[in-house]
Amino acid sequence: MLLRRSACAKFILGGEHSVVHRGRAIALPLPSLRLEVAESETPGLRVNGVVRPASDAQKIEELRTLIGRSTETANERNRPPGLDITSEIPLASGLGSSAALCVAMARLVTAREGQELTGAPLAELAWRGESLFHGKSSGVDPWTVALEQALFFRAADHSHRALSLESFRTSGLCFVLESSGRPHSTKEIVEAVGELREKTPLIWEDLIDALSTNAENMARAFESDPAQLGRLINDTHFRLQQLGVSDSGIDTVVGRMKDSGALGAKLTGAGRGGFVLGLFHRADLDAYLDNRPPPADGCSAFVWEL
Ligand code: PMV
Repeated sequence: MLLRRSACAKFILGGEHSVVHRGRAIALPLPSLRLEVAESETPGLRVNGVVRPASDAQKIEELRTLIGRSTETANERNRPPGLDITSEIPLASGLGSSAALCVAMARLVTAREGQELTGAPLAELAWRGESLFHGKSSGVDPWTVALEQALFFRAADHSHRALSLESFRTSGLCFVLESSGRPHSTKEIVEAVGELREKTPLIWEDLIDALSTNAENMARAFESDPAQLGRLINDTHFRLQQLGVSDSGIDTVVGRMKDSGALGAKLTGAGRGGFVLGLFHRADLDAYLDNRPPPADGCSAFVWEL
């Protein structure tokens, strides 16, 4: 029997980059936006129907090995020779495509062994796999995607708390996620932030502390007074700019969102390309979406609401 498993997208509300080094992050799943991996009798790797080179297929094999609880078993040796990946999640854009791939693969690999992993064990396996794409990964992406819950996440020990959604549900607010026009490499940007630490350690410490504190305050605001998120989102974007991970494409979308009534707007994920999030009153949403110019990369905008 051919198996298939999927996983969702996510976005980071606050704590990107600071969570790699210390502290916490807050991230939310996008359950309707998904990536699926499906076994196939046709050898080779296809992504959205396009045959990929042998080097990509090799990377998927490395991922299997990293996730690898079962590479030596008969089930694993007898698995079908091909794989199809179908993704609605824009690649390399801060919406968790690599975490979704790792979670979906961890689900597929363990399902083939007859163990449907969920929760923490699934997240830990996916996190192991994500190091292939991110280098040093904090774990916030695979945990949010594996649990499909809004999480306040602590990187040091992977402890996490599912956030209460009630205040946000009644707030009349929503998040809009929009592409800045180009993809990014999380690994390269995380490395660049690490290099900045060497060059200007005091400034770096201040920024990382501020980002971490903002993430903690965001978790409180999300659960008690979501309109307060606007100020925290704007301050977080300012700090990320100072950390050198914004760019003109991101800042253009941030400016447009604020001009259209967003309470706050910031990059989400690693930055230097990728997606931007804005916090909007639902009443202002249609006007914003109807008037936005066609994005350079053709990516849709996504809305997160309860
Ligand atoms: O891959 P992205 O763009 O979702 O970035 C992940 C967030 C970082 O904090 C930059 C990296 C990490 O592992 O937490």
